[in-house]
Amino acid sequence: MSRKLTIGLFGFGVVGQGLHDIIETKDLNLEIRKIVIKDPAKSRSLAPSLFTTDAGAVLDDPEINTVVELINDAEAAYDIVTRALRSGKNVVSANKKMIAAHLEELVALQQEYNVSLLYEGAVCGSIPIIRNLEEYYDNELLHSISGIFNGSSNYILSKIFNENQSYRSALKKAQDLGFAETDPTLDVGGFDAKYKLTIATGHAYGLFTDPANILNLGIQNFSVYDLNYAREKNLKIKLVPTARKIDDGTLTAYVLPKFISSTDFLYNVENEYNGVTVQAAFADQQFFFGKGAGGHPTGSAVLSDIAALRYDYRYEYKKHQSQDLRFTTDVRLQVYLRYQDRALLEQLGFLDITEKFYASDFRYVIGSVRLSKLIEYQEELRNDSVFLAEVVTAKAPLGEIAAQPEALVEELG
Ligand code: HSE
Repeated sequence: MSRKLTIGLFGFGVVGQGLHDIIETKDLNLEIRKIVIKDPAKSRSLAPSLFTTDAGAVLDDPEINTVVELINDAEAAYDIVTRALRSGKNVVSANKKMIAAHLEELVALQQEYNVSLLYEGAVCGSIPIIRNLEEYYDNELLHSISGIFNGSSNYILSKIFNENQSYRSALKKAQDLGFAETDPTLDVGGFDAKYKLTIATGHAYGLFTDPANILNLGIQNFSVYDLNYAREKNLKIKLVPTARKIDDGTLTAYVLPKFISSTDFLYNVENEYNGVTVQAAFADQQFFFGKGAGGHPTGSAVLSDIAALRYDYRYEYKKHQSQDLRFTTDVRLQVYLRYQDRALLEQLGFLDITEKFYASDFRYVIGSVRLSKLIEYQEELRNDSVFLAEVVTAKAPLGEIAAQPEALVEELG
């Protein structure tokens, strides 16, 4: 018989309610003792006696052995989670920003206090990717992990590509459906995907890196020009986080919009669905697919973590203990760049250009640039007249910079 869990829940938003709905349907040998909320004036579907605004009612209650943290605010979440771990409680969290920013410390706290922190719901909603990366791929040579990690931006792109909806109205719908973050810039700007990539990279490769080291460009500046360009070539655009081994000792990671062909698994991942492609040495390509946002899908991942705690499951971070990978941005990427100001091309120092188009209202180039240059000029790349997306051609796979050819921008008219 598994141990009974007495739970203190923080947050009763979309995911908290989703989790509660799911728990109601089953006899799971667990009890939600208290729910800590921010706004006591909001009307709730459950008995008022269950709710409190006092975090101490959970954190200082010795009978509560499990804390489930499902709030938006990453700083408040950090405070709750670290206090809970320090007081010997196991924790389940879905706060990707908080976990990505403090992974190293959270791992140390788990070891020091002999407790477990699980966070499957933080990465790709219902897809069980963390436990798979943590457990299954231990002995596999993982070349790369990439995919669609943000439901809201994918929902927006699907509505634009498939239903000709406007960016604004699609974003509004993603917000109404409860997929988007309180600040949707986190979704469309690729920040949310970056936090998830940071966590996934920790479990896939054992490399913990500061999310600030990972470039994220989003879909905010996606325009009808880019849409038409993609359609002409039977491509779609998706927001794709990527972590890729460059050689035995180095790994790169970034989040960029990407042109996707119909032969790619990600091509048919639509709306709030997420997908993760794992490229491994001997297994070759594998693909995980499922809903990445929403109360019930994310609630199901949270419940799976809660259930795992009943059997004392914890992440062992084995790859981190023995990891000797170095993070690099010294890699060459093949990109499409729509721009207005020619100075940007000079700043980025394209290594080669294979296609270019120049008209008064629409200018683009396709060519190779260094990721380090994109990082250097990331603010310029976020200017609303610019859109950048990764392009992968069979001829020019991504990889190490072998040669340093001269920049070709001077060829442009
Ligand atoms: N805002 C997130 C998304 C929620 O759209 O994917 C799930 O993490």
